[in-house]
Amino acid sequence: MKLWGGRFTKETNQLVHNFNASLSFDQKFYHQDIQGSIAHVTMLERQGIITKEDKETIVHGLEEILSDIENGHLLFSPEHEDIHSFVEANLIQRIGEAGKRLHTGRSRNDQVALDMRLYTRDEIDATHILIVELLHTLLSIMEENIHTYMPGFTHLQKAQPVTLAHHIGAYFEMFKRDRERLIDIRNRMNYCPLGSGALAGTTYPLDRDYTASLLGFYGPTLNSMDGVSDRDYLIEFLSALSTIMMHLSRFCEEIIIWNSNEYQFVEIDDSYSTGSSIMPQKKNPDIAELIRGKTGRVYGALTSLLTTMKGIPLAYNKDMQEDKELSFDAIDTVKGCLSLFNGMISSMKFCSETMENSAKNGFTNATDAADYLVNHGVPFRDAHGIVGQLVLYCIDKNISLDNMTLEEYKRISPVFEEDIYDAISLKTCVEKRLTIGAPSSQAMKHVIAIEKDYLQNL
Ligand code: ARG
Repeated sequence: MKLWGGRFTKETNQLVHNFNASLSFDQKFYHQDIQGSIAHVTMLERQGIITKEDKETIVHGLEEILSDIENGHLLFSPEHEDIHSFVEANLIQRIGEAGKRLHTGRSRNDQVALDMRLYTRDEIDATHILIVELLHTLLSIMEENIHTYMPGFTHLQKAQPVTLAHHIGAYFEMFKRDRERLIDIRNRMNYCPLGSGALAGTTYPLDRDYTASLLGFYGPTLNSMDGVSDRDYLIEFLSALSTIMMHLSRFCEEIIIWNSNEYQFVEIDDSYSTGSSIMPQKKNPDIAELIRGKTGRVYGALTSLLTTMKGIPLAYNKDMQEDKELSFDAIDTVKGCLSLFNGMISSMKFCSETMENSAKNGFTNATDAADYLVNHGVPFRDAHGIVGQLVLYCIDKNISLDNMTLEEYKRISPVFEEDIYDAISLKTCVEKRLTIGAPSSQAMKHVIAIEKDYLQNL
């Protein structure tokens, strides 16, 4: 059944129908479509636009459709153009005349604008839950590892010692910003487009404030042309999702490196790794690689929608139907990645001894040796040069700074005394970095307390 057959004299070409139809994918928001329709007729009745009996018959019919879809009794049949036509046709078939009044004072343009917004809002909330779960996991890893020393890297070269808590804490901050981005988007988008009509509102005395409040919106959107053709909120959500994927991907990249035979900083649990069909020794970090790989398709959805929207004149144009498939895919992809990532790092083993040994080798304390000289009156630039000579000497002898004798030190600079060993020990290097945001256990404890409080007060 068509919603718009009246002015046509010929049947739609089958290929045109197939090309035009969106039911195969917009069925995903059947729930939101029905939810929106129930709010709409509730308002229509309150405004005296339809009778109480019609409203009750319609709501009852819609509720039946919802439960029939949910328990598998009602299947989406491809002769319907989209979810809106499907629900309306089914309603009329079930309840007759009253069903024909559902679409009073509404267009599919404001209907789909509403459905997409409700769907996006629900998905923002679902993503939010997953991000908060991840933040809890990260915080507990941080709490357990404020004394787990490891090398910090720049250019993937050992730079200065940090702790695992500090390293993980960097990701905590990233995902915390991701969480806040979701909240910002939700707040900005939470206005109801229903009542915008096709583009110019309607002549019925709709109470848009009432419909908005029934659906949990702050209020109605304030321009009907914008109401039907705005997809900014979805672009913002896809952008936030892309940023989440970028963060997950960076983290996965590190886990892949850490899990490599050369590093062995972590061991991914057997339940989160896979083997090779030919090489029996292999245990591959496939999940981390897949998450890294799936980042591309989420970016793709963002780029696609930005491109689709860029040439659309006001108000609704059919191009906008293209907002759905890739967005749905991106949203499901990110939610899947967040759950799997959380499971992977919760079960992953951190090899603290290997990390600590790695921090001990590779001159991560060279800066501290230079600082030692500065504290004894040597200008920093000279100190940098002296420690450079020490490093060269050590490389030549294949030892670390900690293994040089005091005599060897003094040969390069007489300023060095016995206390150099303590000054450049791994523990001192980390624990001396006391400012907020730095890796010492004292600073980390302070940050962890702040973040704990943050999570408790969400
Ligand atoms: N399936 C359409 C979409 O997703 C619904 C709106 C149709 N409106 C129209 N005027 N053809 O955008």
